[in-house]
Parts: sequence; structure tokens; C-alpha cells
Amino acid sequence: MDVIRIEGGHRVSGVVTVEGAKNSALKLMAATILAPGVNTLTNVPNIADVHVMGKVLSRLGARITVVDEHTLSIDTSSVDSWVTPYELVAQMRASTAVLGPLLGRFGKATVAMPGGCNIGARKIDMHILGLQALGVEFDLDHGDINATAPHGLAGTTVTLDFASVGATENLMMASVKATGTTVIDNAAREPEIVDLANMLNEMGAQVKGAGTPVIEIEGVDTLCPVTHEVVGDRIEAGTFIATAALCGEPIDVLGFEPAHLGLVLRKYEQMGITIERLNRGVRVWRDGAIRSVDIQTLPFPGFPTDMQAQTMCLLAVGDSSCVITENVFENRFMFASELQRMGADIRIEGHHAIVHGVPGFSGAEVKSPDLRGGAALVMAGLIADGETTVSDIYHIDRGYERFVEKLQGLGAHVERVEMPDPVL
Ligand code: UD1
Repeated sequence: MDVIRIEGGHRVSGVVTVEGAKNSALKLMAATILAPGVNTLTNVPNIADVHVMGKVLSRLGARITVVDEHTLSIDTSSVDSWVTPYELVAQMRASTAVLGPLLGRFGKATVAMPGGCNIGARKIDMHILGLQALGVEFDLDHGDINATAPHGLAGTTVTLDFASVGATENLMMASVKATGTTVIDNAAREPEIVDLANMLNEMGAQVKGAGTPVIEIEGVDTLCPVTHEVVGDRIEAGTFIATAALCGEPIDVLGFEPAHLGLVLRKYEQMGITIERLNRGVRVWRDGAIRSVDIQTLPFPGFPTDMQAQTMCLLAVGDSSCVITENVFENRFMFASELQRMGADIRIEGHHAIVHGVPGFSGAEVKSPDLRGGAALVMAGLIADGETTVSDIYHIDRGYERFVEKLQGLGAHVERVEMPDPVL
């Protein structure tokens, strides 16, 4: 039951390097199922979600060796099971990313149905509809989804209702081994989709158009193991960029591709933040007040929902009022009520948050509502008056490697504190 304790008001400045992208690494790990043999992934973040995906693959029979802190060797020649139980899916919804690769390799998969989570219902109906179009039959049995392709997977055109990241990935991973051509129309365009397509192509797949709304996949018979470097984490980078924007002093954020944060950087510039492009990174600082601007989240290249909380934290101390509209997930404003405990003035109306800037935050005890909201509360603590304690930090551990240590490296007065078990 660790907490993060922050003493606000200290200078935060320096250089920070981000890890490989969580959202890419998890899917690349799942994709190794498609290429029996020893696959090597480099630049893998050492975070709790990656550990869970490691357990999922081990349960399926893969042998995982930690070569060094950020390099995993995954031998999938021994995969002999296609069952992913609820105990693992409940720990991490992204475990459902093995559905497509298991279907591609074995023509069958049993994956526990994910339940709701704290950022909304997060259905997988589009994954199922798309895979059905490829010839997969589903039945729900005591909470498990049993998927089989009795006549094999056959390429077809699938039009997604919404550019879902997870559905696009599962469809890509199933169809690389289907017969004929699969077209995913209204596909998600996130950089992590491009990273996955690149790795599949290195394995011998024929995927064209990743990064555009139409992805075309020509099925192949076999895929070979590869060594692949995970793309830099644009959201971890965005979190440190938001930290520099909030605290004001320069921070160099390195290890990612600035084009992957195109709209975020443009919006931050409108907010009065200076952003200098570096080689695989940016230098960020702020001279004047934070100017309030409206934000709406949308699939890539729109403003990422995964940067919404960190940006709300900035706008909460903006010079006037603005509206933040969340279009991707329901229930992604829980962070706002925690920030209100620190003095923010935010009113939620459906999927809009009306934010009136206040002069500053006051330190308080707050609870991390989810991964990005948790990081944003730690950020708020950096400029708050007095001490802030953030609990439920297991959310932060899911997606940020050494978050506290990286902030300490920038001079922040922040520490992880082990709390004694409550006396019953
Ligand atoms: C991924 C990312 C997450 C990011 C999100 C949007 C991972 C592990 N997670 O999540 O960090 O915030 O993309 O960029 O990569 N939906 C349906 N039916 C479906 C699929 C999705 O209704 O079959 C809805 C979801 O409930 C949600 C929206 O579509 O409201 C977007 O979901 P999606 O793009 O699929 O996000 P994830 O892949 O779950």
C-alpha cells in the first residue's frame, strides 16, 4: 500500500528519457505467438502491465527470458495452450490482445471476457464483429469467450464503427495468416498500430497502409521470429512535457518521436508553452501564464485521451476558462474530483468538463483514480502549496517505469513511502 508523497514548490528541471511505449510493447509481445521461435524485443518498459502480459504468454506455454532490464527474449515455439483465464484478463484488459494471434496460429482461442473498468464499459464488440467477418465463431461460456475458425480464416473487408485501437490490432494479428486479402476500413492510426504492422512485416507478413484509415493485409502461411525495438512512449513523453509546462523551468524529454505528439505540441504552444524540437525529443518551458484553450479528445491524429488528465491539470491553473470534451471513453473524468480536493474549479457536464483556472493548488491527500489521472495528481503536487499524498499508486506502476526516480532526477521533492497496514 505504498503512496507517493510530494512537497510542492521546488524547482523541477533537467533531462529525462522515456521508455518504450506500454501500448506497443503489450501488443508486440502478443504478436510473438504468430512466429514460433525465439523473438527478441528491445526497449521494453519495465512496468507492471508488461509483467502481466509476460504471465499471459507463460501461461500459454511461451518461455520468456529477461536478457536485460529492457530486453525480453520470448520463445513461442513451445506455446501449446490457447486459454487465457479471467484471473489474468481481470488484472489487465489488454490481455485480450492474444485473441487475434491465437486465432492466427491455432484457429482457436479461449479468452475470458473482460469486465468493466474504471474508465468505462470498454466493450470488445467490434473485435468480435470483425473476427466473425473473417470466419470466426464465438460462444460465451461461463464468462469465457470461445473462439474457433472451423473453416479457417478468410480475408474480407471489415469496416469498424469507430477507429478502435484494440479492434484494429486484433484484426491485423488474426488476418496476417488468413487466406486472401483483408481490408480494415476506418482503422485506428495510432503510432503503436504502425509499430505492430512494422514488426509483423519484419516477420514476413504483408501489411500495407498502417497509419492510414485503410489497412490492407495479404495473408501468408508462415511468419518467422524477429528482433524488434519498441517505439518510444509518446504518452510518457507527454506526461513529462506537461510537467515542464506546469512547473515552468526547462525539461528535455528524450527517447520519442515528436511527430507522434503533433496535436498535443500544437495545443501546448497555443497555451503559451515553448517547445523546441530536438533529435528524438523536445525541450519544453514556460515564461508567462498558462492560456486556457479548449481540448477535445479523439483517435489519432486527434488529441489523445491518454493526455487528457495531465492537460486538465495544466488548464486547472490556466488564466481563464475552457471546456475539455472527452470523446473516447466514458467515465474518464474521475481525476477531476480528486483535483478539486486540491482547490481546482472544475464542473463536469456529461462528457464535458468546464474548467475555470485557479491561481494554484493546495496540497491534499488524494487517490489515484487510474493510470494517467494518478500521474497527473503527482504533477499537481509539484506546484501545490505544502504536501500532497497520492494513494492507490498501483495504477501509476502499471504504465510508468521509475516515475518517482525520474522526477527526483529532475529535482522534484517526491518520494515513495511504504504505509503500514491499517490496524483492524
Ligand atoms: C487503447 C490504449 C489506451 C488508449 C486507447 C485509445 C492499450 C493497451 N490501451 O485502448 O491506453 O486510451 O487505446 O487511444 O493500447 N470500444 C467499443 N467496442 C470495441 C472496442 C472499443 O465500444 O469493440 C470503445 C471503447 O469502449 C472506448 C473506445 O471504443 O470507448 C475506444 O477504445 P479503443 O480504441 O479500442 O481503446 P483500447 O484499445 O481499449
